[in-house]
Amino acid sequence: MADGDNNESPQSHHDLPLYKQGAEARVYESTFLGKRAIVKERFSKKYRHPVLDVKLTQKRLTGEARTLTKARKLGVVTPALYAVNLMTNSLTFEFVEGPLVKDILLRSGPLPTSDDKIEELAGHIGRAIAKLHDGGLIHGDLTTSNMIVCAKTNRLVLIDFGLGYNSTLPEDKAVDLYVLERACVAMHSSVGDFNGLILAAYNKASKYWSSTYNKLAAVRLRGRKRVMVG
Ligand SMILES: Nc1ncnc2c1ncn2[C@@H]1O[C@H](COP(=O)(O)OP(=O)(O)O)[C@@H](O)[C@H]1O
Ligand SMILES: [Mg+2]
Repeated sequence: MADGDNNESPQSHHDLPLYKQGAEARVYESTFLGKRAIVKERFSKKYRHPVLDVKLTQKRLTGEARTLTKARKLGVVTPALYAVNLMTNSLTFEFVEGPLVKDILLRSGPLPTSDDKIEELAGHIGRAIAKLHDGGLIHGDLTTSNMIVCAKTNRLVLIDFGLGYNSTLPEDKAVDLYVLERACVAMHSSVGDFNGLILAAYNKASKYWSSTYNKLAAVRLRGRKRVMVG
């Protein structure tokens, strides 16, 4: 990230241990009423007009809270949202203990996780996305870094709804799936056709498979053309 890109707000969480630094947000480890928690603080971008910046940052913040809440209502497992703080531009979530799906798949290279386990994991992912999409919700950033397998419950937990939005358009669902497909091909091709397993589960679970899949074919074609043109 470029220097001077981010403004510190006076109340930002400097005293907390930094957990992850992203392009749009810093993630800190914290506690909330005695429970382990994650604080996600969106920072402002200095190149934006200050008034617009505050508006945009707050819109993204409340958008993430709203999308996550809707996902939960649709039966998708997400961290509990403990607090929304518009003064510090931060959301406080339940800390989900357990590995990222990314790390499970990367680790499964040399010491192969059993094929059953991989298929089961892909099944959870496909069904979770189908629930979101059938409920008219797009995640917006489906990657294996935004999925945690909860150590306690063994359930798949989706996180990072900052780019999420409402839509029932097959095109939007297809782009959502395509983002994940690209991420799987780039990161996890050693695991075999992980994305194919996800789509098979999605297909079984979604009422709108055929319209989404038709669009996915078109989106893939567009993606390939873009690569060829450069
Ligand atoms: N509720 C949570 N429990 C445990 N880890 C989390 C949680 N939320 C985020 N993380 C960790 O922080 C990382 C970044 O958080 P994320 O919401 O994905 O922000 P970003 O927009 O920077 O990707 C995640 O990839 C994950 O490792
Ligand atoms: Mg993320």
